[in-house]
Amino acid sequence: MKYNFDEIINRRGTYSLKWDGADLIKEFGLTERYDEDTIPLFTADMDLPVPQPLIDALHKTVDHRIFGYTVFPEEYYEAISTWFQKRHDWKVTKEQIVFSPGTVHALNVAVKAFTKPGDGIIIQRPVYPPFTGAIEGNERIVVNNALIADENQYYTIDFEDLEEKAKDEKTTMFILCHPHNPTGRVFSKEELRKMAEICQHHNVLIVADEIHGDLIRKDQVFIPMAKAVGNTDNLITLTAINKTFNVAGLHCTNVIIQNEDLRATFATEMGMQLPSPFTVSALIAVYNEGEDWLEQLKEYIDGTMQYVKEFLAEKMPQVKVYIPEGTYVLWLDFSGYNINAEEIHDRIYNKANVLLEDGGMFGEEGLLYQRICLPSPRPVIKEALERIAKEFEDLSVKSQ
Ligand SMILES: Cc1ncc(COP(=O)(O)O)c(C=O)c1O
Repeated sequence: MKYNFDEIINRRGTYSLKWDGADLIKEFGLTERYDEDTIPLFTADMDLPVPQPLIDALHKTVDHRIFGYTVFPEEYYEAISTWFQKRHDWKVTKEQIVFSPGTVHALNVAVKAFTKPGDGIIIQRPVYPPFTGAIEGNERIVVNNALIADENQYYTIDFEDLEEKAKDEKTTMFILCHPHNPTGRVFSKEELRKMAEICQHHNVLIVADEIHGDLIRKDQVFIPMAKAVGNTDNLITLTAINKTFNVAGLHCTNVIIQNEDLRATFATEMGMQLPSPFTVSALIAVYNEGEDWLEQLKEYIDGTMQYVKEFLAEKMPQVKVYIPEGTYVLWLDFSGYNINAEEIHDRIYNKANVLLEDGGMFGEEGLLYQRICLPSPRPVIKEALERIAKEFEDLSVKSQ
């Protein structure tokens, strides 16, 4: 079927974090202003309708009228294996899969299971802030192997620095974000292999968060870390239906661990986790029948990215932007305005009343950047951009 992603679906009054979560959003320190006129484009969930087979499957579950303790049927594991084989040419078997009610939760479990307080954990900033939370919240130390941006906002890995940091015997883990949020890099096989070799050589466990792995540009290929490397003995991969199919509220993450000992340790730390019947029926529906929707969604997001790029080139040429290889976020460089981070924030959040995410939350490397999440109807994105452009008009004119 053909989906209409331009449709504006009102999410207010549905317990949505983005649209109803004013108190929590302020508590997180994302903004001071949040009211009925705010356009929230900060968190990575979509304001777009999900695949019809998913809706049908959830209806069927509701219609049953009983929502008791639930187990994982064979179809659950088969759906996962089939998806990864078909989409990423990656063989995942039932025994390798450990369920978790969340990806950030799984990350915290991995940190607790495999490192000890005081250990160093490598991340590549600017990066998704809960990585820092999982490290510092568990009294481990952030070891930053910052990504390097060129003049086109294309980020690459500083391998020499990675090796230097992995060498330290206090460094025991590397949390990789692949595709990388917020820079959108989809790492090549060579990059993945090089990172893995360094970590293997220095006995550093890799946790690869691949939650954005299905959301790549039409012309890109995503290679799971497990597929790129020969030896998966020091690798844990986090996968989820969450981002791909817009079901963050259904809490379904699947952790893939090939090594038996690692898996046993991880599963023990996790404890028994049973799913909800909605989680199980959702995963089976989207992995078995969601491909057609995903292809349409990817095309829509690619189109929105192109639209934003053209809008900025015309109305806010000081903003530097690079269309990323993966994810549905854009990482916007506002440094061309020569104003500080507070003023950038004030103009966007308080004056334009658009809620993005300050780049500084992803690490100091992101201080003059803003992250915008694009999986909303294009008319909503258009209005947000027009509001922002208006608040920068005086500066845009001056520096031309
Ligand atoms: C890289 C990355 N990992 C994890 C998550 C969150 O996953 P979950 O809701 O399953 O904890 C996000 C959400 O934006 C993300 O970007």
